Amino acid sequence: MAILFTSKDDDPDAWRAALAAELPDEEFRVWPDETGDPADMEFALAWGPKRGVLARFPNLRAIFSLGAGVEHLFRDPDLPAGVPIVRLVDPGLTLRMTEYVVHWVLHFHRGFHAYAAMERRREWGRLPVPPPPERRRVGILGLGALGRDAAETLAALGFDVSGWSRSPKHLDGVRCFTGADAFHAFLSELDIAVCLLPLTEETRGILDRRALAALPRGACLINAGRGPQVVEKDLLNALDTGHLDAATLDVFEIEPLCDDHPFWTHPRVIVTPHIASQTSPSTAAPEIAANIQRVRAGEAPFPIAERLRGY
Ligand code: NAP
Ligand code: GLV
Repeated sequence: MAILFTSKDDDPDAWRAALAAELPDEEFRVWPDETGDPADMEFALAWGPKRGVLARFPNLRAIFSLGAGVEHLFRDPDLPAGVPIVRLVDPGLTLRMTEYVVHWVLHFHRGFHAYAAMERRREWGRLPVPPPPERRRVGILGLGALGRDAAETLAALGFDVSGWSRSPKHLDGVRCFTGADAFHAFLSELDIAVCLLPLTEETRGILDRRALAALPRGACLINAGRGPQVVEKDLLNALDTGHLDAATLDVFEIEPLCDDHPFWTHPRVIVTPHIASQTSPSTAAPEIAANIQRVRAGEAPFPIAERLRGY
């Protein structure tokens, strides 16, 4: 039996080496050139597979996402039913996302975006001293593997942190809001909003004109979830009217961001190229290997993404 690898964005050789260190006896085959007999494939490691590819392997026991998100798998209408789809939760991925979030929260908290604008104007000056972190309200949309760590780290740094999720949560030092009914109340109390939601039917377009208007005037947005969660024209409007002060965006409706997209040159937008937290085989392979061993031992891998809810 063998492990199938399919991704156009990840380096198969790095994955081959990292998995070999964990599971030296496994055969690792890269789609399409090394596929061989489709019946040999027991597990698949996938990122953005072509439609129908995973359906060609009748003996798959689990499909592992090469990232935290799974919408790239669920968008395949031919995704084999009954095969568990396993999300990636790995300490390295979580750490890098928390670093990204803390970096940009501190950036906006300290007004470095305003100093960057002053620098572009060659203007030497001092803005008012920022408030202490306990008076800076930071809200995390999504309190899953990534959101929870970011929220707890920001709370430990002294920020006034709240979070929003689908099901109720209890996190030390974090005010937790639950469900669609609480969404606008949650947003209305934030100076900095951080989106770490998965892309689902419910979250597509969630940061629209009404949601952005619910944020207090002068708030900043950090989006490291998925691009289609933000209605880009509504965000541009909120920035241009001055309702929002600034945004850092790592993910976009269409990636790569096209050359003439207004975000590239917008004075209130910072663009990063979907690098908030990249998967590293060195920390992800041990998690996937442990799940493969669980399946072989007759246990369920985890965490399994639920098809109906989309994450
Ligand atoms: P996760 O563990 O599945 O957590 C998702 C969180 O979102 C959960 O707290 C969930 O609520 C909440 N949620 C989902 N739908 C919701 C809704 N309709 N209303 C309110 N809350 C909702 O996922 P994760 O590992 O933290 O990853 C989150 C996302 O980050 C990924 O799906 C991916 O899109 C993005 N990501 C981006 C990068 C990057 O480099 N930019 C890297 C990694 C991940 P419950 O807790 O109640 O289920
Ligand atoms: C990256 O975007 C991921 O989902 O891990």
